[in-house]
Amino acid sequence: MNSAAYIPGNRFLHAPGPTHVPLEVMQAMSRQPMDMGDPRLDVSIAAIEVGLKGLLQTRTADLFLYAANGHGAWEAVICNLVGPGETVLVPGTGHFSDSWAVQTEAMGGKVVRTPWIEGLPIDPAAVEQALRADAAHDIVAVFAVHTDTASGVTSDMQALRGAIDAARHPALLVVDVVASLGAAPFAMDALGVNVVLGASQKGLMCPPGIGFAAADARAMAVCERNPTPRYYWDWRLRKSEFSYRKFCGTPPQTLLMGLERALELMVREGLDQVLARHRLMTDVVHAAVRCWSTAGALQFFGMQAESRSTSVTTIVVASGIDTEAIRTTAREQFQVAIAGGLGPLGGRAFRIGHLGDMNAPMILGCLAGVEAALRVQRVPVGNGALDAAIRCLAGG
Ligand SMILES: Cc1ncc(COP(=O)(O)O)c(C=O)c1O
Repeated sequence: MNSAAYIPGNRFLHAPGPTHVPLEVMQAMSRQPMDMGDPRLDVSIAAIEVGLKGLLQTRTADLFLYAANGHGAWEAVICNLVGPGETVLVPGTGHFSDSWAVQTEAMGGKVVRTPWIEGLPIDPAAVEQALRADAAHDIVAVFAVHTDTASGVTSDMQALRGAIDAARHPALLVVDVVASLGAAPFAMDALGVNVVLGASQKGLMCPPGIGFAAADARAMAVCERNPTPRYYWDWRLRKSEFSYRKFCGTPPQTLLMGLERALELMVREGLDQVLARHRLMTDVVHAAVRCWSTAGALQFFGMQAESRSTSVTTIVVASGIDTEAIRTTAREQFQVAIAGGLGPLGGRAFRIGHLGDMNAPMILGCLAGVEAALRVQRVPVGNGALDAAIRCLAGG
């Protein structure tokens, strides 16, 4: 018998991934596996391909699905595009650009980095300068994180494309939309993005376990020429009519059923409405954080209001404040799970996720639980945060 105390009601999950999974998605996954020849599996995979391409706004790219997390999707992109000893440029966005760069180096690539300035998005001028300095065109790709989930800052992909074009550099533009897809506007073809990668557990409202990459014709040509030994991740082998080959083996059927339903839910809500809802949820969180911060102990990490992410808000605490105690109190006493600071923000920040399957009472419950935890921990907060959040929701 499970002797843990029963805690009634819902627990609120406000990490920036994994995120809350809608009941309809849970139900879609409540199925027995199928035999490998069952045509329903092919129908689901085809629907996911259409749905994801629609979300990415690409008509032409090839889509590759993996039984993997975001690191798996990074691995796929690195081994398909970067030959042994070849160089990529990783513009600094914080913890996740650092991690992607480290993984690239671990796999035998070289990395040129542009500096990350805390609280700021990618600096397109620094990218342009680094590409101009590469007169021999050794850099094969620019690996850019759209929303860095640690900093809570979203970078301008159009400006980044402009920087690559201004430098007249042939490097591919590869964008990590793990934290932004479904939460922030993104259009692969219109932005001139050559490769996109993502994962299922954030804006896509599914459990972790499916990673994906989309590659345009230029990227596929680079992949064809690239001599890096690879098999499971290889786009050349995965480009196939057959589900078994598309997944290099047995597809993760249960998760696919969930992803198919989640993409259908997003279409039923309307993609514009999905983005508008994320904008609103973000504004509500920002209204509360602005009030809290008037007492001087908390502040936004993102220095520019316009580049603060619509997926997650990173809140820096004054020195001496224990972020882990805030998180533990929020989770254990008030059933609200929030995230801590990552990388250089470890112990200096906490993060509120507001992406995916989220609505007004959920975000109000989250903010109330976080404020209660802050008060229990005697963190000074300005008054009126919930009132401000409600006024933002009520439109006045
Ligand atoms: C922007 C971004 N990229 C990549 C990853 C890595 O994904 P995963 O933890 O699924 O391996 C994450 C994880 O949070 C992320 O936020």
